[in-house]
Amino acid sequence: MNIIPKPLRYTALTGKFVLRNDSLVYADSALQGCAQYFVNNINSSNIVHIDMCTELTNADVHFCLPESKDNALGDGYETNMAGDKINVVASNDIGGFAAVQTLLQVLQPCDQPDILQSDNCHIADSPKYKWRALHLDVARHFFDVNTVKTILNAMAEVKLNVLHLHLSDDQGFRVEIDKYPNINKVASYRQGTEIVKDGQRYVDDKPYGGYFTKAQLKDIVSYARKLRIEVIPEIDIPGHCVALLAAYPEYGCRGEGYEVRKKWGISKDILCAGNDNTLQFVCDILDEVTELFDSPYVHLGGDEAPKDRWCNCKRCQAKLSELRLNDYNALQSWLVNGVVEHLKTKGKKVICWNDGVNSSLDRSVVVQHWKPATIGSTVKAINSGRQAIMSSALNVYFDYPYAATPLYRTYRYKVMPRGVKKDNRNNILGVEGAVWTEYIADNNKLFFNLLPRLWALAECAWGTNDSYHDFKSRSKQLCSKYIDKGFVCNTRAYKHQNVFSRLITMRKCWKKDSYEELNTYLSDTINNNKERE
Ligand code: ACM
Ligand code: ZN
Repeated sequence: MNIIPKPLRYTALTGKFVLRNDSLVYADSALQGCAQYFVNNINSSNIVHIDMCTELTNADVHFCLPESKDNALGDGYETNMAGDKINVVASNDIGGFAAVQTLLQVLQPCDQPDILQSDNCHIADSPKYKWRALHLDVARHFFDVNTVKTILNAMAEVKLNVLHLHLSDDQGFRVEIDKYPNINKVASYRQGTEIVKDGQRYVDDKPYGGYFTKAQLKDIVSYARKLRIEVIPEIDIPGHCVALLAAYPEYGCRGEGYEVRKKWGISKDILCAGNDNTLQFVCDILDEVTELFDSPYVHLGGDEAPKDRWCNCKRCQAKLSELRLNDYNALQSWLVNGVVEHLKTKGKKVICWNDGVNSSLDRSVVVQHWKPATIGSTVKAINSGRQAIMSSALNVYFDYPYAATPLYRTYRYKVMPRGVKKDNRNNILGVEGAVWTEYIADNNKLFFNLLPRLWALAECAWGTNDSYHDFKSRSKQLCSKYIDKGFVCNTRAYKHQNVFSRLITMRKCWKKDSYEELNTYLSDTINNNKERE
């Protein structure tokens, strides 16, 4: 059995199911969409050609609703392969689509050229978490529509269902905005990039940038919908806004002297909360952004916003007094709450990173936990009724070298933190892996860092991450598939690396070459292949 994520229950049965040319697929009307997706995908393999049919009795593959109308299967499914038939039972399209992904993984080519086959089995499966997500930073380095679509395909096949796009940061703003033309003229481009290469850390002088047009983002959203994936936009405020300030300096406390940031790290320059027009500026931008996304969720960042400028800004000081707030964290919550209120009128719900969340932030805001040292305050927020998404940087930050975050640490991530009271466990919506791209400038490194971590993440999200050894052997099929398609997948990630060699690699990545792991992997692979020839 090679299914990823591992199904909740799998029973091997004797014999094999064979899908041949002209096999027929029947679906109840609620499951027509996912059945058609199954047919299209099978046909695109060019091994067999199958069709839909309208009579259950003629069909080899059945997609049926459960006999009883209760929603016992939720977003899960059951499938039985036996007696030359596949029976899929799902309560809705989501469950049916998950079943399809399972079928596409188990039905494989064999010695006979014109059939697909699978071992007979019975599977009863359902996801543990409804939020099974990946975050992609397209602000530090920009990735195009095709790359995003490739990631969406990779997510769908392992039943991940949310893509969070980090669209703005100090180093670039990546959405077309009509109302403020300087955003795309100025904020979408920087005049250099911090690089770690050839034993040095330096800033190059190459202009870099780009942004998604509105039509491109709509295309991404509709492509994702077909894969049953929601796309969430993030516009980070009040920190990580230097690119916006370079375009519109009047919204910063200093009012001038900003340039789109070339270096990484955290800037002290953030949006001025004391400027009465800042809220309108942010809401105007979000009006244009949210129009492009059909998800009810919007991410407002809120992380890493040092208050140095606010402490020294007359307008921010006056705002703090006017609102009778105790500290500048409460002022951040006041600003974000203003945006939350505006987004509520559009039916949108807000997510913020955990370091931007405190008790004065609107209770509807979902906390996204990332900072390991502050897990205590995240747990407190969850126990006080706040919903949460778990993204511990120790486990699911996929930009980190494998030397820093080995695959097994991702695989063994315990999404439910200790200390969450039983009655509050439902507040954990799920888990999200994150790919920050300061040191990921191209697809080779993007996919090297992502594969096989994405599959470990899927197993955490599905709640079946209980056998690392077994996971290794089950991932072989997916590894080969991606390598055959020309992707760089880190097959070395499964090998144990001792702490000493990990520390050396980490130091090299940080000081000498951020591409150290990838480059070593590629040169060793090429040398191995040469030896074999
Ligand atoms: C974060 O890593 N700054 C959310
Ligand atoms: Zn200010």
